[in-house]
Amino acid sequence: MKLFDVYPLFDIDIVKGEGCNTYDAQGNKYLDLYGGHAVISVGHSHPHYLKALQEQASKLVFYSNSVINTLQQQLAEKLGKASGYDDYQLFLVNSGAEANENALKLASFHTGKSRVIAFDKAFHGRTSLAVEATDNPKIVAPINANNHVTFVTLNDAAAVEAELAKGDVCAVIVEGIQGVGGIRIPTNEFLMSVRESCDKHGAVLILDEIQSGYGRSGKFFAHQYTDVRPDMITVAKGIANGFPMGGVLISPKFEPIYGQLGTTFGGNHLACAAAIAVLEIFEKENLVENARKVGEYLKAELQKIPQIKEVRGEGLMIGMEFDYPVKELRTRLIKEEKVFTGATGTHVIRLLPPLVLTMEQAEDFINRFKRALGA
Ligand SMILES: Cc1ncc(COP(=O)(O)O)c(C=O)c1O
Repeated sequence: MKLFDVYPLFDIDIVKGEGCNTYDAQGNKYLDLYGGHAVISVGHSHPHYLKALQEQASKLVFYSNSVINTLQQQLAEKLGKASGYDDYQLFLVNSGAEANENALKLASFHTGKSRVIAFDKAFHGRTSLAVEATDNPKIVAPINANNHVTFVTLNDAAAVEAELAKGDVCAVIVEGIQGVGGIRIPTNEFLMSVRESCDKHGAVLILDEIQSGYGRSGKFFAHQYTDVRPDMITVAKGIANGFPMGGVLISPKFEPIYGQLGTTFGGNHLACAAAIAVLEIFEKENLVENARKVGEYLKAELQKIPQIKEVRGEGLMIGMEFDYPVKELRTRLIKEEKVFTGATGTHVIRLLPPLVLTMEQAEDFINRFKRALGA
């Protein structure tokens, strides 16, 4: 059987990882400024993480959501404390799209309405509602195009208010920092105004922190740079350092109803053990603070490079916009400098490294990056 060929691949076979480094089958070592697309939070093969997975796997990998799972309760408690959302409720799933799908569904159940406001360049995943709320017609199939979603310009609070005033909106969904959209940040004023409009018109505010959350921005959630408190927050990617998992943090104003939401695999024992280990490492190694500190250094150094038109982002979620397409530069970075980076669109390079990136590794990256630029 052949693989369904939907991914344009770099010709590299990554077989091993350690901290912020990955290794290919030929033994070449790569500095990982991409984190497997913002997924690797505590670093590749962290010993505490591996031990937790191994110990849990030897006890129980999975049992269904029809019995008590104390690991889910432990995770909820730890996540509440780490994030400052102690009073919220946690619903566990397996991916980011699934988290958004459930958040939108719950907003619709709660309000009895069905229109959604999302933003230009938004990316929320590839399941039916999540992809409908994604501003990329190329990945929206006819079966997903159900006119539920109105797209509004990011940071245009008046446009959001005008849509909400029509009275049929169940949810506004916005990324803490837009990732795929090119590292674009919603302002405090904007989010506070959207919060007010949602309250006024009975809509639910969902912050998609799937890429920008879990410490990546230098705060636990990127929206914590602002004063907003959303009704729901969606998480995935870094939550279990590569073990598939997602979640929805749900405000106390939502009453759970038996059977209304559900999943077979969501919150399974092995995933919870991985996610608990991640939060233990966050605490022990101060990773949110590390992301802030190393991110500030990287941004300051990148801003000194004249070839870069603009540097955007917070913490270890950084976008660099160029006047020219970055494809060749990224290829040079991988082939010649052995550095993984991400991209978005044609002109933006994205840095999404593991949150354990050290100052020395950041400095090493800057040197390799300058060499690749010929700077
Ligand atoms: C902001 C955001 N939301 C949702 C998703 C979808 O997550 P997943 O691929 O785990 O379904 C992504 C993935 O890149 C994302 O960046």
